[in-house]
Amino acid sequence: MSQRTVYLETFGCQMNELDSELVAGQLRALGYRFTPTPEAADVVLFNTCSVRERAEQKVWSRLGELQLRKKVDPGLVVGVLGCMAERDGVDLVRRMPVVDVLVGPGELDKLPGLLDNAVRTRESLISDDEAVASGKAAAKSARQVALQGNTSRRSATLAAAQDSLELLDLSRSVSPIDADDRAGKRSAYVRITRGCNKFCTYCVVPFTRGAEIHRPPEHIVDECKKLADAGVIEITLLGQTVNHYRFEHGAAVSVDGIVQPQKGRAFAGGHRRDPLAGRNVTTFADLLRRIHDEVPSVKRLRFVTSYPRDFGDDVLEVIRAHPRICRYLHVPAQTGSDRMLQLMNRGYSVGEYLEFLDRCRHYLDQPEIGRPLMLSGDFIVGFPTETDEDFDATIDLLRKARYKNSFIFKYSPRPGTIAFDKLADDVPEATKRRRNNLLLAEQTKISDDISKAQIGREFEVLVEGLSRREEKRRKRQIATAPGLVSLTVGGRDAADEAPGDACGSDDHDCGCSTKVHVLSESDAAVQLSARTDSDLIVFVDAPVDRDPQSFVGTLQRVRINTATNLSLHGEMI
Ligand code: 5AD
Ligand code: SF4
Repeated sequence: MSQRTVYLETFGCQMNELDSELVAGQLRALGYRFTPTPEAADVVLFNTCSVRERAEQKVWSRLGELQLRKKVDPGLVVGVLGCMAERDGVDLVRRMPVVDVLVGPGELDKLPGLLDNAVRTRESLISDDEAVASGKAAAKSARQVALQGNTSRRSATLAAAQDSLELLDLSRSVSPIDADDRAGKRSAYVRITRGCNKFCTYCVVPFTRGAEIHRPPEHIVDECKKLADAGVIEITLLGQTVNHYRFEHGAAVSVDGIVQPQKGRAFAGGHRRDPLAGRNVTTFADLLRRIHDEVPSVKRLRFVTSYPRDFGDDVLEVIRAHPRICRYLHVPAQTGSDRMLQLMNRGYSVGEYLEFLDRCRHYLDQPEIGRPLMLSGDFIVGFPTETDEDFDATIDLLRKARYKNSFIFKYSPRPGTIAFDKLADDVPEATKRRRNNLLLAEQTKISDDISKAQIGREFEVLVEGLSRREEKRRKRQIATAPGLVSLTVGGRDAADEAPGDACGSDDHDCGCSTKVHVLSESDAAVQLSARTDSDLIVFVDAPVDRDPQSFVGTLQRVRINTATNLSLHGEMI
């Protein structure tokens, strides 16, 4: 097979981003090349999200565009991966015959084989001149499908059967970080649990990602070590309900010498310590401690998303005692009304949620040592039957919780969920929009107050790259200076290079192909974007006598001088 070019676009959560990274690694190892432009690709893959209707609509419209393209390019192979594939199944291919490959999130390890089959099938379709001429080749799908269907919850035993998805995680290809291309690559995601057992009534995730499964701790620690050896200094552990993590070694099952992930047990709820701690079990607290201690070159250990119940003091104690575990928790409340919480099947009351936040702050909020605890939340407005009083209770919770930021969503009914079947979507769209805006405005005030409270404080930050403002400025410069082939970044180059050095001409529009942009005075300070361990974003200027890129991926101490428009501005100290 000649080398195929793939375009892969990811929608949705961090779990999908990680899945895409693993899939891309696998395809690369098989000789596929990746391109950032769909037009240049022979294979177009969408890794999809079904959590809200809007995310799905984007994919439908992309598929519609590809349908047109396939008429003139019948060799094109199109794949839908992830939650939409799982949810819609073969109906998706019926509606959009442009789709050749469907792979659910539980079957991603099967993608290479299916893709290969689809490529061959399309090749045979387009070898038939008549079919191409009549448009039949374009209209036919080379249908290849791998979905879990309803098997994901079939086994009631603790150990899952051989879990081929674990092989995908284990096969992660980690290459050393290139010194010239470090932006973003110093951070990595590591999956610890998959799926979800909660069945919140609005949510598709338990249906698309299946039951909660926990990976063996040895696999997780080894993956962290591999990433650290390659230069990663920040790891974010992923799970839909990350704090449910628990691995019972006594019940471990091996298949072909590989310890298998385990299905999660039900949590009784409201515990302060994992009741199985110490009984040949790795609890979430144990796992955090192990990664912290066994992989010391990881300077920042984060985790998302936490379920606000089942979060013990044992975990809070470990976070407090281990300096490289970040003081940031993403703990979605969804609503501030007890009635709504019940209808959503969240399993806690507003009082219990606030008591949990108090506990978190008691253990982890230490601004006096530069380590304030920051929280972020998720809210759904306009859930069925939500009244103005329910919404007022949500505003009230937002004020009490004081999140640094919140993700606010209008309720989107999802077929297959309990709410979709049992509750009419009876809050008008205009009311949803109004509540969304009101909640956002309230959050903005709180975020602004929190930002201002940081002025004068000092933090250690991880420099993530050039700020967006800086990136935009550079793009503008490139756009307004045709013919530039490279940018010089950093004051050192500006001082070193007189205008025209590269081509020997003073005329910047001389037409040479090796022209180097020389920084003007207004370019002198290059703005970097960095993050505190509590996930606050800080903009900081690189010193003018240093190459700004050399700061990317490093930890720096900064003092916060100003806070405007929800962002912090600091200086290196
Ligand atoms: N409608 C709107 N928002 C939803 N979320 C999950 N399901 C829905 C839905 N049907 C939100 C929740 C969750 C986040 C990932 O997406 O707030 O925490
Ligand atoms: Fe969905 Fe609830 Fe599970 Fe989160 S905890 S993934 S909202 S079912």
